[in-house]
Amino acid sequence: MRIVIKENRYEASSFAAETIAMQLQKKPNSVLGLATGSTPTLCYEQLIRLHKEHYVDFSAASSFNLDEYHGLSPDHPQSYRYFMQQKLFDHINIDISNTHVPDGLNENPIQACADYENEINAHGGIDLQLLGIGRNGHIGFNEPTSGLQSRTRIKTLTQSTTHANSRFFGDEEFQPELALTMGIGTILEAKKILLLAFGKEKSAAVQTMIEGALSAYCPASALQLHPDAIIVLDREAASRLEHIEFFIEVEEKQQALMKSLNLS
Ligand code: PGA
Repeated sequence: MRIVIKENRYEASSFAAETIAMQLQKKPNSVLGLATGSTPTLCYEQLIRLHKEHYVDFSAASSFNLDEYHGLSPDHPQSYRYFMQQKLFDHINIDISNTHVPDGLNENPIQACADYENEINAHGGIDLQLLGIGRNGHIGFNEPTSGLQSRTRIKTLTQSTTHANSRFFGDEEFQPELALTMGIGTILEAKKILLLAFGKEKSAAVQTMIEGALSAYCPASALQLHPDAIIVLDREAASRLEHIEFFIEVEEKQQALMKSLNLS
């Protein structure tokens, strides 16, 4: 794991957006794994700016989102398809037919999940997967105790997750308790992973993910197994790390080495 600690969420989001832009420069037809929630929104704003100002080109790219609520249509304001259209896709030059979000309305969600896996494979796998982390350590909707080799499937959300997301739903509104989500095994197959976490409320999950034992009880700890996972934190999210000084020193030394080799 590479741990990058930035002063605030704006700097962290710029770093993430630049990493995605570099990926697209290196490989214009990259397959991007995308995430929803409050965490990636600033990164998406930065990507839109980079697209408009510097013409970061998404025309050959394709995307797969991590998850979708079961029972919400793509035009429901709380669906993740709607979120992606509003926050990113409507503002960049990605071909919408190349964007994929699990089908929350499919009458056979089990088949829909299997089809989603096949579609990812048919695209050659995910080049770069963007992730947030839940307060309970979930990635995607892989709640604690999710299998570390799990595939795309339908999952029951924990109370902690439905409670955290209830702020987006009206009092009387139907709030799904099931979701289709890429599995932890699916996520780990991405060639590169970029996880963002901001704020004090994520600091306990971040500490367990990085410094705790590999455990299904903290699904994000599975990233310890990944050869190219970058964890980008603001100061608050990093505040419980016992080895924070060491992580800062490692990153500085790594940057200096890359510079001396003309690699950055
Ligand atoms: P958040 O959710 O960005 O809204 O905090 C992150 C997550 O649950 O993965």
